[in-house]
Amino acid sequence: MAETINTPVTRYEALRKVTGDTKYAADFMPAGMFFGELVVSPIACGQLTAINILEAMAEPGVITVYTHETMPKYETPKGFYAGGPGTASFWPMTGTEIKYAGQPVAFVVAENAAAARRGAQRVKATYNKTAGRIEMDTANAFVAGKKEDNVMTKGDMDAGIASAAAVVDETYTTPFQHHNPMEMFSTTAHWRGEQLTVWMPSQSVRTARAGVATAFKLAETQVEVLSPFVGGAFGSKAGLPPYAMLTIAAARGVGAPVRLVVSREQMYTAAAFRPESIQKIRLAARGDGRLTAFEHIETAQTSQFDDVVNPGTHITRSMYACPNIHTEQRLARSDTNTPGFMRAPNEMQSFFALESAMDELAIKLKMDPVELRRVNDTRTHPVNGVPFSSRSLMACYDAAAKSFGWARRNAAVKSMVDGDWLVGCGCATATYPTLVAPSEARVRMYDAGTAVVELAAHDVGTGAYTIMGQIAAQRLGLPVKAVEVFMGSSDLPIAPISGGSVTSASAGSAVHVACLKLADEIVRSVVLLEDNPLSGLDPAQVKLVDGTLQGPGVKLMSLLDALKATPRGEAAATGQYAHPELTEQALRTTYKGGLGVAGPVTKTHAMFAFGAQFVEVRVHRWTHEIRVPRIHGAFAAGTILNRKTAHSQLMGGMIWGIGSALHEHTLVDHARARFLNTDIAEYLIPVNADIGEVNVQMLDERDDFVNPLGVKGIGELGIVGTAAAVANAIHHATGKRLRSLPFTLKDV
Ligand code: MOS
Repeated sequence: MAETINTPVTRYEALRKVTGDTKYAADFMPAGMFFGELVVSPIACGQLTAINILEAMAEPGVITVYTHETMPKYETPKGFYAGGPGTASFWPMTGTEIKYAGQPVAFVVAENAAAARRGAQRVKATYNKTAGRIEMDTANAFVAGKKEDNVMTKGDMDAGIASAAAVVDETYTTPFQHHNPMEMFSTTAHWRGEQLTVWMPSQSVRTARAGVATAFKLAETQVEVLSPFVGGAFGSKAGLPPYAMLTIAAARGVGAPVRLVVSREQMYTAAAFRPESIQKIRLAARGDGRLTAFEHIETAQTSQFDDVVNPGTHITRSMYACPNIHTEQRLARSDTNTPGFMRAPNEMQSFFALESAMDELAIKLKMDPVELRRVNDTRTHPVNGVPFSSRSLMACYDAAAKSFGWARRNAAVKSMVDGDWLVGCGCATATYPTLVAPSEARVRMYDAGTAVVELAAHDVGTGAYTIMGQIAAQRLGLPVKAVEVFMGSSDLPIAPISGGSVTSASAGSAVHVACLKLADEIVRSVVLLEDNPLSGLDPAQVKLVDGTLQGPGVKLMSLLDALKATPRGEAAATGQYAHPELTEQALRTTYKGGLGVAGPVTKTHAMFAFGAQFVEVRVHRWTHEIRVPRIHGAFAAGTILNRKTAHSQLMGGMIWGIGSALHEHTLVDHARARFLNTDIAEYLIPVNADIGEVNVQMLDERDDFVNPLGVKGIGELGIVGTAAAVANAIHHATGKRLRSLPFTLKDV
């Protein structure tokens, strides 16, 4: 087939997207729908003492205003990090306590959006304010959960340091960041008796359905959550957020459908964000560059009511061979909503630290930083000792170094000058754990030469619809255009959260398995018929190879011709996929709407995708302006299903990495304990003028262990390491070592 796996197929909905023809969650408008608006707390800590809704109620068009006293009740679930479906464990509008700025205190329902907004402005809440703090309480930093999960020692750090020729002992910091997806958070809730339909942009319709059903005491069959297209998520739409529950409760209360679209400002407190972090790294090495000791102590911010552990140290300690390792994962609280996932939720921060420290070590050792990575490359996991299922890190370095022209740089600091610009080059490692979740998919095939694929996965803007279609097209021997894919509904066969870069590897494998099962069922019925190439054969002897049924060493007939021979002319199968080393507990977790995965370290293997990034930085001698005219990345992530959408993911990740290095920073008002630059005018992200040449290479890598497709996932890999590569290039250009993201004019 011309248009199948590994080819650059254009996403099938591209034209519909650019012509505004795709319907996102907030585009669905059930008849008689009302509009919701949140009123949120300006204070971070204290008590709500009174709330006056009279003026708001008098506003023309306002239907009602709910407060903590009148909001219809539901059973509040646990937050994700406590094993529940919620984005946080604390649910606003359940009492008078205020725990973070931006916490909803009232919910206005009106006939139209403008009336809802006017009503919200007229709600008068008064508070008894106590001091809140938004900076991390590092004095009381703690290890959450089980100690063995978050503190790890191998060998003897002191002995490792004592035997070293060079030691780097530094602290790196990363700021609060917010996702800012183009598509706002929204929920539209439509009750028909005890049957509930919820449209919301979601990375997990099944998590949302499970949480909503429990909260409102419904059977899961009474709830459908729909998220057909998502305009960017990046982790912000992974769980079940308060705004969704409030909208559903309000809709039940008023007895009409209600839609809430969260404002851009409120999006900074309505769901998750990237917590700030402090990364302490100690690296020691012999004169030849071999690491003798590695220590990483990460302290990440969390809320007062959830312990958000996204363990960056688990990933940094997987990277390089080292006999003596110590890692600790700590948390420090402050008065914010609960942080959570944001693209590469710990790897971005932890690899900024590790890969900056590796560069500092290379400089101390007078070694080429690429060679330092080479001497410490390993075939086995540094802690667990199991082999990597595949690991092409140095192939990535070699490919990216070559295209970038690394060999042409002058290694001496401040040696490369172009007029008023100081020029520097830097590199860093990218990695992302391969996580494989269980999944199901249903495939139907028709004798007209068409097929339908259905599963409760999501296209969060990555091209997943197209990729699932490609997998089925290749297996069934049909053109991609003949395969229709339905996703984003909780009623479809079980698929995991679209997070942790799991979708292609997991849901894609289920599509693959379903196609094989479908072929098997067709074969089983055709062998019973007379006068065809399969007549009388043992079905076990017939294999499906890309749309062709083959006996031992011989092509028998196409799958489509076999289907045409059946009396019904159509066939259906549901495939179930689970990695052989997936634990039963992880299987149950996914089936209950959570995220249970195999990997990155299983009993027998370590599964990671790798990459290498090279950047050129220019720092202006007088204005101190920092520019990144070139970035080259080479990545090895197993099978690349679609070379066009994968390229976009990796390119987008690298651009976001430049944003992390130079632009993104949620500023805070310490006195008021709240986020300050809560809009995309003042929350800086890279624009076209900030980005020059972006070169993406995808290496061929075969991995038979990760899943039947050999896919590792590339959604988050591209952002990892970029910020360190920029820091390392700035050092090369200027001699200044920057250890706090983001880097601004005043830092150089
Ligand atoms: Mo991704 S941060 O796991 O949505």
